[in-house]
Amino acid sequence: MKPKVITIDGPACSGKGTIARRLADRLEFAYLDTGMLYRIVAYADTDPGNFAVFSARDVLSIADSAPEGILRSDAVGRKASEIAVLPQVREIITKLQRDFIAHPGDGYAGSVLDGRDTGTAVAPDADCKIFVTADLEVRAKRRFDFLKETNPNLTFEEILQSLTLRDEQDQSRAIAPMICDDNYVILDTSLDSPEESVAKAFEIVRRKLDRPLENECSD
Ligand code: C5P
Repeated sequence: MKPKVITIDGPACSGKGTIARRLADRLEFAYLDTGMLYRIVAYADTDPGNFAVFSARDVLSIADSAPEGILRSDAVGRKASEIAVLPQVREIITKLQRDFIAHPGDGYAGSVLDGRDTGTAVAPDADCKIFVTADLEVRAKRRFDFLKETNPNLTFEEILQSLTLRDEQDQSRAIAPMICDDNYVILDTSLDSPEESVAKAFEIVRRKLDRPLENECSD
């Protein structure tokens, strides 16, 4: 049977990562954080002498050696958004994602992907597509609260500016921009706790797949 595909797209700090991970856990589907692939390439590109055209093997070997904290940083996120406009980068990362969807791994009946273009460019035929969003100020506050302990000099305004810039870059790029079209179910998390958002996402998936989900269990 063809593996099921659930795509969760949306802007930075909308809550899509938490929702996608929790959905994957609950359904026992494989999970792929596609933003991390762009972050890995962006991080690699900051080192001198790096390759100009990335292969899937290159991306995976960098993932193994790069420190997790650096990959998650705001600076690498901004850089990821810059390199995400390059056709050669999008091509190799899109291919990686399609291979993942086709072969999610032993024991997985499907996959959950989170990103910006997973329901449009990567898997337009996905079984369920959710666009997760939240007000810009709410997203900036989430990011600020997350980073302020480790980075006390960071201001809320800097975060707001950085998110605004990334939203603009992600929405306006020529190839595979972040667009919320009619095929998505929109989930606004501005007023909800992570648990409430996950519960709503799970209901959307259940309705879309139009049958009780096989691996359903409470978490
Ligand atoms: O989701 P995350 O913040 O980790 O993504 C980092 C950047 O990678 C995004 O701002 C976006 O420019 C890029 N990206 C993308 N397509 C995806 C996922 C991420 O262009 N599917």
